[in-house]
Amino acid sequence: MIIYNEQSRTITLHTRRTTYQMKADKHGTLLHTYYGPRVGEEDLSRLLQYVDRGFSPNPSGFAALPVRGYSLDTLPQEYSTCGVGDFRALSAEVEQADGSVLLDLRYVSHEIQPGKYALENLPAFFGQGWETLSVTLRDPFSGVEAELLYGVDEEDDLLTRSIRLTNRGSGPVTLCRVMSLCLDFTRADLDFATFDGGHVKERTLHRAPLRPGIQSVGSVRGTSSHQHNPFVILCEEDAGEDHGLCYGAALLYSGNFLAEAERSQFEHTRLVMGIHPSHFRWPLAPGESFTAPEAALVCSPDGLTPMTHRFHRAMRERLIRDPYQGKRRPVLINNWEATEFTFDADRLVDIAREAAELGAELFVMDDGWFGTRDSDLSGLGDWTVNEKKLPGGLGALVPRIKALGMDFGLWIEPEMVSEDSDLYRAHPDWALGAPGRPQSLGRGQLVLDFSRKEVRDHIYAAMSRILDSTDISYIKWDMNRSLSDVWSAALPAERQGETYHRYMLGVYDLLERLRRDYPRLLVEGCSGGGGRFDAGMLHYTPQIWCSDNTDAIDRLRIQCGTTFCYPVSTVGAHVSAVPNGQTGRSTPIETRGVVAMCGTFGYEMDLGACTREEKEIVRRQIQTFKDRAGLIQAGDYYRLTDPFRDLTYTAWQHVSPDRREALVSLVTGSTRAALPFTILKLKGLDPTLRYRVDGGERLYDGAALMHAGISFPLISGEYQSIQLHLTAEPK
Ligand code: GLA
Repeated sequence: MIIYNEQSRTITLHTRRTTYQMKADKHGTLLHTYYGPRVGEEDLSRLLQYVDRGFSPNPSGFAALPVRGYSLDTLPQEYSTCGVGDFRALSAEVEQADGSVLLDLRYVSHEIQPGKYALENLPAFFGQGWETLSVTLRDPFSGVEAELLYGVDEEDDLLTRSIRLTNRGSGPVTLCRVMSLCLDFTRADLDFATFDGGHVKERTLHRAPLRPGIQSVGSVRGTSSHQHNPFVILCEEDAGEDHGLCYGAALLYSGNFLAEAERSQFEHTRLVMGIHPSHFRWPLAPGESFTAPEAALVCSPDGLTPMTHRFHRAMRERLIRDPYQGKRRPVLINNWEATEFTFDADRLVDIAREAAELGAELFVMDDGWFGTRDSDLSGLGDWTVNEKKLPGGLGALVPRIKALGMDFGLWIEPEMVSEDSDLYRAHPDWALGAPGRPQSLGRGQLVLDFSRKEVRDHIYAAMSRILDSTDISYIKWDMNRSLSDVWSAALPAERQGETYHRYMLGVYDLLERLRRDYPRLLVEGCSGGGGRFDAGMLHYTPQIWCSDNTDAIDRLRIQCGTTFCYPVSTVGAHVSAVPNGQTGRSTPIETRGVVAMCGTFGYEMDLGACTREEKEIVRRQIQTFKDRAGLIQAGDYYRLTDPFRDLTYTAWQHVSPDRREALVSLVTGSTRAALPFTILKLKGLDPTLRYRVDGGERLYDGAALMHAGISFPLISGEYQSIQLHLTAEPK
């Protein structure tokens, strides 16, 4: 609900549990007055203090100004100014026609409308029940206009934000920085939590109290990156899973991003988040507009777990689109770790057959099926089947897979080109790269200039030819290097600063075309594992390969970090062979199965090489997953332990929306003598119900399971696992 009070000029945004408030003051500054647990509509600018502070300038030129004590440097704002007296992290930086880098945004008007605003060519939340607030601010001295957009999803406690900047002046201006989100807090006793790592070690939680100055994470790799994720948390220092005020902010963007949290001199905090300003320059001729990607905010008054639940639910139901919204994903078998580039049709069919017999539903042919692709040095861009490996092409292979009762899926890396490829030989200028400079290679490959429509059209035509040639129900869209040498042959020198963003818009454009023309196709995102695992991609790819690291123990952290924001149903997770290719570690197949079940679930190994006993375990695992998939993928996910602090044992839980069913999973880390006794307090159950565990005789009281706990047998040996299935007795 959005309420405007004409007298106080406050605009109050209510969700079920939270309130957000802003106020256009008499000088035209759009103040941010509150974001937190739900309150009324009282004008909360009463909390602001106007005190003259040294070196904090006082603006002039507006009604009743200058006033000593009134400074943009000390006031919380909805979208801060640039170069006119606020020295904190910038929301926007605009080079005006006269060369000045100054922007003073003042309130002009606002509008409240039912429904959600639309963003052109960018991923965004959608659905019923939204309300939109749009506030127009203008720089009276240049005519640059900002439209601040707010979407209110009352039910999910979700707020979205974006901004559209328009040049209403008479001369050209250049945008050097446009953050999607600026959020000011009148406190600084907060922790900043980020999700960081690298290839094969994505999204490790790092949490620390804010210290004075700017703390930031970001990416200039052209992707949201393995190194830092465009999701951050600010929370009270003592906030935990079930208590304390937390704010989560996710950017729906898959390219360069920046998130800055600044603790200011007066113990205020500012969070800004948006496209990374490095390499970004966007000229706007008079009349032109630029729209920033969407950011999503959740405030949870009662801890991190409810924050996670809000994001999960909103993303499952209002970001991921049909037909995969809430739909169980097929149990797949992928040949990559079993064969890498060395396979033929018989080998693939053998792998598929073994998996089909055990219950897998989808066979995915990974890298190596096209062009002259016998290693990672050639073939990318030549999207025609390599008939030496696969005589008769897909037309011969796919029916053999379908005859096993399986669907067929395919790996593809549309954004890339190998120097050793027909495509590159024909169109060397289609790769990003500045004239006269040798480009850096990444995994031996170059990046296609996806900012160019003719390049996208060519790739799309090649993809369509494959998709139209046979029955393909899934593709894995990979992207295996960071962008470097970013220069587009299609843009003049003064517009090269647009290339990174135009590249990203190009990727979204192609993904959207795929969705339009192949609405049933399941697209799994991938970038060397989880190098582009973000809310932007989830709008097009309802699942994303979480990491190239399939080691079950490393995955405990990677998946836990990922699911702080992103739903379990989106997390690509497979059982692979041991010793694990990344770590050399051997874990029991049961444990690998339990860990992969906290995701989309599948196998990435030659199941034919398993013992008979292992195969029986796999058969049971697949059946268990199918039986529990609704609970796992649509239920609420609870972290029962913190694997970032302690890996002695890691436990988590899925609870059905009606709280009548739960699945508890526990995995032990490396063992030691005299392990502590393990009593685990369950979460999310109905305290008034009694639960049966794994169909046993005994009934356990829901309240007791949560407050007293459940005791696990002491497990000897390392990397062991237990899974318990709880079902409530009818009342
Ligand atoms: C990337 C992916 C892997 C696999 C290989 C194939 O690394 O993350 O899963 O598809 O490419 O080259």
